[in-house]
Amino acid sequence: MAESQIKLYYKNVTAQIIGDEHGITDAQLKTLAKQTSPVIEKVNAQRKAGKTPYRDLPYNKEISKNVKTVAAQAKDNCENLVVLGIGGSALGNIALQTALNPYMYNLDPKQRKGPRLFVFDNVDPAQFGSFLDWLGDKLDKTIINVISKSGRTAETAAQFMIVGQILLDKLGPKGYKNQVVATTDPKAGTLRKIANQAGFRCLEVPAGVGGRFSVLSAVGLFSAAMCGIDIDSLLAGARDMDEKVSSTDFYKNPAAINAAVNYHFYTRGKKISVMMPYSYALKDLSDWYRQLWAESLGKAKDLAGKQVHVGPTPVKALGTTDQHSQVQLYREGPNDKLFTFLEVAKFEKDLKIGPAADCAPELSFLAGADLSKLLNSEKKATEYALVQDKRPCMTILFDSINAYTVGQFICLYEVTTSIAGELFGINTYDQPAVELGKDATLALMGDEKYKELAQKIQPVTKIDGEYLV
Ligand code: PA5
Repeated sequence: MAESQIKLYYKNVTAQIIGDEHGITDAQLKTLAKQTSPVIEKVNAQRKAGKTPYRDLPYNKEISKNVKTVAAQAKDNCENLVVLGIGGSALGNIALQTALNPYMYNLDPKQRKGPRLFVFDNVDPAQFGSFLDWLGDKLDKTIINVISKSGRTAETAAQFMIVGQILLDKLGPKGYKNQVVATTDPKAGTLRKIANQAGFRCLEVPAGVGGRFSVLSAVGLFSAAMCGIDIDSLLAGARDMDEKVSSTDFYKNPAAINAAVNYHFYTRGKKISVMMPYSYALKDLSDWYRQLWAESLGKAKDLAGKQVHVGPTPVKALGTTDQHSQVQLYREGPNDKLFTFLEVAKFEKDLKIGPAADCAPELSFLAGADLSKLLNSEKKATEYALVQDKRPCMTILFDSINAYTVGQFICLYEVTTSIAGELFGINTYDQPAVELGKDATLALMGDEKYKELAQKIQPVTKIDGEYLV
C-alpha cells in the first residue's frame, strides 16, 4: 500500500496569481532554478563528504536499535517520562508528541501507549516547582531523560541538579542511577562525565549533529519510542523525503523550491516567513521550524567573513485561532511576509456538526458538515483573502498526519534549511550569537571562568534609577 505523503504547493506565489509586483514571474522562476541547481549539487556533495551528518540519521540502524533497547528497559514500571532539555534538545520531542499522540494523551490512560510525557525547556521556578510537587510520590515510577549535547547549558544543568538531588534524597544512589537516562555527547562534555560517574543508561547525540538537526537521533527518538510513536515509520518517511530532496532537478525537488522561494522573497523585502498549520497536531512542528530557521539562517557574516546581517524571521501562527488575531495585519499591514500553510486532507478523527437550533436557522449551513471541512474551508478562505491582497502563499499538503508524513516534513525542512543557507551564503550550522548569551548567564551566576564578562555585563543590566519611571 502506498504510504501517505506530503507535497509542496507553490502556485500562489507566482505572478500569474498575485501579479508581477509581488509574485514570481516565469522568468524569475527560471533564474531561481538556474541559481539553485548548483546549490543542490553542493549540498549533495557536502552530504557525501560527511559534512552534514544529520542527513544520515534516518539510515542509521544502530541509533534506532539502541533507542529501542533502552526504551524497552526504561518502560518497565514507568508511568511518567520527564525530558529535561532546551532548544534542539527539547523542541523536536515536543513536536513529535503533539503531532503523533492524541491531545488527551497525558490525561486519559485509554489514549496512552506509554508513560505520560512532560518536557521542560525552561527554568521558571513556579512552573517547575508545581510539577515537582505533583511528581514527589511518583519518582520510582518516573524516568528522567536529561538531554544536553554539551552538558554546560545552564537551564538543563540546573533542572537536573534539582531533580538529581530529589532522586538521591528520596530513592538513594540506586534509585538515582536507575531512574535517569542521559542523552549526550558520546565522549566529551559535562553531562557525559556525570553520566559515567553515576552509571546512568546513556544514549548518544551523534558527532557533528547540531541540536536543531538532531530530532531524528536519540534526542527525539527516545521519548517518541517510550510514548508509543512508530519511530521506524518516522525514519522511513524521512528517508523517502531524503531521496526527493536529493534530486538535482530543481522542479522535482521540494526542498530546493521551498528554499528558493523563501530566498527570493527575502531579497524582495518579504523578510518574514509565517508558518500557519491548520491542525493543532502540527502546531509544535512550527516551533521546531522556528528554531531551525532562525538559528541556522540568522547570521551576521557570510562565508567570506563580510558583514551581511541576513536571515528571514520565522513566525508561527495557528489556523484558525490566529485568523482572529493576526490576519488583519497579514492582509492590510506591510506586504513583507511569505505564508506557508500546513493543510491536512484526512484527520485522525472527524466530527459531524450537530443540527442548528430552531431559533437559529441562520446556522443551518453548518449542520451535518464535517468539522474537518470547516477547518479546511477556513484555510482556503484565509489563503484566498491573502491572495486578494497579493500576499504570496505556499502550502504543505499532508495526506494525513502520521509518523511517516511527519518524518517527511522534518527531512523536507532540514534540507530546505541547508539549501537556503547556501543561497544566503552563510554558515548554516553554527550559532555564535547563542553562545554569548549562554556565557553571560554563567557569568551572572558567578562562574569564576567568566569573571571579566560579568564586569562587562554590569553597566548594561544594572537598573539605573534615573531611567526608572
Ligand atoms: O540547536 C542548538 O544547537 C541549540 O538550540 C542547542 O540544542 C541548545 O542550546 C541546547 O544545547 P545542549 O544540548 O548542549 O544543552
